[in-house]
Amino acid sequence: MSEEIIIDEARLNQFVPEPGYVEVNQKGHLQVDGVDCMDLRNQFGSPLYVMSERRIRENYRNLVKAFTAVYSRAKVAYAYKANPILAALRILNEEGATAEVISTGELFLARIVGVKGGNIVLNGCYKDRKGIRLAIRMGAVINVDSFHELDMVDEEASRVGIPARIGIRINPIVRTGTLSVWETALDESKFGIRLEKGLEAYKKAKNLKNVEIVGIHTHIGSQIENTDPYRVASTRIMNFVGDLKEKLDIDLEMVDLGGGIAIPFKYIDRAPLEEYAHAILDPFVQKKEEHGLGDCDVVIEPGGSIIGTSTILLVTVGTVKREESGKKWALVDGGANINLRATQGWYVYQSVCCNKMKETKKEVINVAGPLCYAGDVLGYNRELPYLEEGDVLAFLDCGAYTMAILNRYNSYPFPAAVLIKDGVPRIIKRREAMTDLFMGEELI
Ligand SMILES: Cc1ncc(COP(=O)(O)O)c(C=O)c1O
Repeated sequence: MSEEIIIDEARLNQFVPEPGYVEVNQKGHLQVDGVDCMDLRNQFGSPLYVMSERRIRENYRNLVKAFTAVYSRAKVAYAYKANPILAALRILNEEGATAEVISTGELFLARIVGVKGGNIVLNGCYKDRKGIRLAIRMGAVINVDSFHELDMVDEEASRVGIPARIGIRINPIVRTGTLSVWETALDESKFGIRLEKGLEAYKKAKNLKNVEIVGIHTHIGSQIENTDPYRVASTRIMNFVGDLKEKLDIDLEMVDLGGGIAIPFKYIDRAPLEEYAHAILDPFVQKKEEHGLGDCDVVIEPGGSIIGTSTILLVTVGTVKREESGKKWALVDGGANINLRATQGWYVYQSVCCNKMKETKKEVINVAGPLCYAGDVLGYNRELPYLEEGDVLAFLDCGAYTMAILNRYNSYPFPAAVLIKDGVPRIIKRREAMTDLFMGEELI
C-alpha cells in the first residue's frame, strides 16, 4: 500500500487519561475502569484484551442520543464485523441496538444473543443461499447487492414460502478521502449497484413474486473523519428515494445509510457525533419533505465507533534490542496475530507502559510482535519509558477489527478477553490451549 496515515507523533505519544476509564493509579500503574492493568495481566495472563462494559453502553447511548435528536426514528445497528464477541453483542442487544450482519455466521450470532429477526439487516456483496434462507425465515431485511442476488433471493423466498424483505445497496459514488482500503463507494468498488442502475434494479425487484421491497442501503467507507462525504451520499440517496416514489411508486419503510464513523483516537480531531448526525440526517429529513415521502426508519450501522474505544490490549515485553546504530526494538508477545490492522498501518494505536506510567524519562523505540516477518510491527517511534523484560504495554482503543481478525500464524494460540463490569473483571473468552492449535485437524 503506497498511502499511509499521517500522524501527529506528539499527540500519538501523549497519554491523555479519561477519568473513570483509563487513568494512572497511586502505584503509577495504568488502570481500566478502576482495575489495575498489572493485576489483570497477573491474574489472566498475556496477551489480554480488556473490555469495559460501561464504555460499550456509553458509546452506543451517545450515538443514539445524537442521531435521535435529529430524527426520532433513527436506529443504531451495531456492525458485528467490528467485533463479534458474544458478551458485547449481548450487551448491545440489551441496550436496544439492532444488528448489521454480513454472513450466515454473523446471522447465527445475532440469533444466539436473541436479536429479533426484524431488527437485523443482512448485508454483504456475497451471500450464500443458506444465509439468505435463514434471513428470510428470521424476517431480517436483506440488502441485496447485485442483480443476480435479486434472483437468488427471489428463488430462496419461493423455496421457503415466505416473501423476502429486501433493500438494495446503492453505490452513490462518493470518495471519503480515507485510506483507499476503507473506501467502499468508488466507481471501481465491488459493493452494491451503481446509482444510475438503481431504478432498473428496483423495477426488477418490483416485478419479482417473492420479494417485498422495504428499504434502501448504502455504505461509503470506514474511519471517515470528515462529515462532508456523508452529506453528499445522503443527499444522492434521498434524491433517488424521491425518484423511486415518483417513477416507480415505491414507498420505503427503511433507509439504511451505513456505518463508517471514525473511531475517535486521541490523536485525531474527529467531528463530534452531533455533526455526523446532521450530515447524515439533515438531507434525509429535508428530502423526505421535499419529495412528500412518508415516515420511515433510518438505520445507521456503526461498528468501530461503538466498540473501538471500549477495549485495551495488554502485551508483555519479552526482549529489548538496543543496537549500536541507535535502532531500538521492544519485542512483545503478540503482533499481527492479535492486532493485524496495526501491523498493516490501517489503524494506529497509542501505546503506554502500564507499570511505568509515572516515569518521565523516555526513549524512542519500535514495538514489534514475535512473528517471523518484518512487517510484524505494532508501532514505530514510540516514546516509552526504558523498557525491560516483563514490562506490560497497553495498546489503547483496540476494540474494533482486532479480536475480529485473529489468526494463528506461527502457532500462537488466541489470547483471552476479559470484560470489566462494575469494577469486576470476568473472562468472556478463554485463552486458547496449545491443543486448540490443531483443532479440527486429522493426524493421518
Ligand atoms: C456495510 C457495512 N456497514 C457497516 C460497517 C461498519 O463500519 P465501521 O466499523 O467503520 O463503522 C461496514 C464496515 O466494513 C460495512 O461494510
